[in-house]
Amino acid sequence: MAGNTFGTLYRITTFGESHGKGIGIVIDGCPSGLELDEAYIFSELQRRKPGQSKIVTQRHENEEFEVLSGVFEGKTTGAPLAIFIRNQDQRSKDYSHIMDKYRPSHADYTYSKKYGIRDYRGGGRSSARETAARVIGGAVAMQILLKMGIDINAYVNQVGNIKLDSNIKIDYTKIDDNIIRCPHSETASQMIDLITKIKKQGDTIGGAIHCNISGMPVGVGAPVFDKLHAELGKAMLSINAVKGFEFGSGFDAVTMKGSAHNDAFENKDGKITTKTNFSGGIQGGISNGMDITFNVAFKPVATIIPAQDSIDKDGNDTIVTGKGRHDPCVVPRAVPIVESMAAIVILDHILIDRSTRLVDLVSGL
Ligand SMILES: Cc1cc2nc3c(=O)[nH]c(=O)nc-3n(C[C@H](O)[C@H](O)[C@H](O)COP(=O)(O)O)c2cc1C
Repeated sequence: MAGNTFGTLYRITTFGESHGKGIGIVIDGCPSGLELDEAYIFSELQRRKPGQSKIVTQRHENEEFEVLSGVFEGKTTGAPLAIFIRNQDQRSKDYSHIMDKYRPSHADYTYSKKYGIRDYRGGGRSSARETAARVIGGAVAMQILLKMGIDINAYVNQVGNIKLDSNIKIDYTKIDDNIIRCPHSETASQMIDLITKIKKQGDTIGGAIHCNISGMPVGVGAPVFDKLHAELGKAMLSINAVKGFEFGSGFDAVTMKGSAHNDAFENKDGKITTKTNFSGGIQGGISNGMDITFNVAFKPVATIIPAQDSIDKDGNDTIVTGKGRHDPCVVPRAVPIVESMAAIVILDHILIDRSTRLVDLVSGL
């Protein structure tokens, strides 16, 4: 199976399956000398973990992890950082009813056809359990970014047709005040009510997450294939169940005129900023120093309780019914995944950026 590695200089490889022994990550390119804050990694994993509230899947994993290599006396050594979480609460028999059947809109059919073998227990490698490893990679990257004054905050801005009013000023300290991770309490309650209703029906519902990256230096990214927004787009679209990515003005740009869309420059006491930020902090694939802003759309996930038409592995008509534990809406758990993938991309591209100019390369030698 190819494609388990992401990034160029800060490069992560994830491994493990939903119902295997566990899930893990190898981080290549983590700079030496970082005092690894394991409590911070653990707290980020708690934000993603299943069983955290009544509106997510009821699988219970405490997400305790073991650092296998790359740390000496509490500091990263520059060697590959390997971290492993042992799975605890698998109930593989919950999946025996789909052993030979394909769940509509899950990855069962494509995996079977591609690999000729499928770990049906919890979806194996196609399970979002894999994203626990990404959160570890992001939490390590985030510790480095925070030292540079770069901060990343994501929150839920839509569930079904309940949308957070974009005119509301967001207080990032309130994101984790409620179980949906929407920093506006009234909108959050409406979203929670909707998910509760959908869950009772045995159905699922989609949602969206907004992400903001502040403290960005100018010049991160590359102008051709590795445009910063293209890299962020790949990172976000690689998250399970993601259906859309838009940055800055996104699809709203379609209906705008250039005169309204252009971000006018201004010089505020020597700091160059723009009066508006329809560019979403990126121009020509390169950060312009404004906040990077983007939205990520998630589908209503495939596992639902009502009976659905499907086929079995021999192509015969069959019926699939939802059993076992599943998320009625993934966005509350996906917030730390979005932040983590953003942190991985930004750190990777800051490291790459350090090799842009000869003058920076030779200074201090
Ligand atoms: C945090 C999170 C939790 C998820 N939980 C479920 C779930 O309980 N049931 C399900 O069918 N899919 C769930 N998914 C989505 C599947 O992993 C995903 O839909 C599947 O692998 C097929 O991939 P695709 O939707 O990207 O095509 C979850 C995704 C995320 C990000």
